[in-house]
Amino acid sequence: MRVAILISGRGSNMERLVDSCKINNKSASIELVFSNNDKASGLSFAKNNNIKTSVIDHRIFEKREDFDHELDKKLRENNIDFICNAGFMRILSEDFVNNWFNKQLNIHPSLLPDFKGLDVHKRVIESKTNISGCTVHLVRAGVDEGPIIGQISTNVESNDNEEILAGKVLKLEHILYPVCLKLFSDNLIQINEDKIIYSKEAIDQLDEINARLGK
Ligand code: GRF
Repeated sequence: MRVAILISGRGSNMERLVDSCKINNKSASIELVFSNNDKASGLSFAKNNNIKTSVIDHRIFEKREDFDHELDKKLRENNIDFICNAGFMRILSEDFVNNWFNKQLNIHPSLLPDFKGLDVHKRVIESKTNISGCTVHLVRAGVDEGPIIGQISTNVESNDNEEILAGKVLKLEHILYPVCLKLFSDNLIQINEDKIIYSKEAIDQLDEINARLGK
């Protein structure tokens, strides 16, 4: 499966996806790292790993759809089969989302459907909830919406601040995203009208995460 990763900044999830495809996911290969921001620091990691990069600045387009059209073109030129959004700070238009229906994942640093949107950790702490985590989900037209593929939770301790919580959740993101991508590239899950049907191997692989984390 030829995969493109969309980033806007640091790209630490992208790094983990790249590493996992080198080490233990032979059914997916990261063929393109795309950014809407030429200053995204993750681009240098991709270049250093000989992965093709591409930047299109969204600010030069008047309409969201025009940027999305160029992005779609770039993905098709590179024969991309599947997209992973990893800190990609753009809302994608409905047409784009539908063109990549069930072929686009996103990672979000909360236990969706709770805390969609930005400033997640700040809002989690303010809410005084004692549990948070991360979610990998298929992309649908609404922000941070779509069928959930996997989640990992963590306790929010009373002395956690935004930074501490972000760090704890990011570590979990780095574990979850590669596993979820592999479920797709190994064809271990099916989607029927937005319901995820997990094969036995898929369930085992998701359970194995919790075992690894001692949960
Ligand atoms: C991650 O927390 C991800 O869940 C969110 O944006 C952040 C991106 O971090 N969508 P990185 O660029 O992958 O380091």
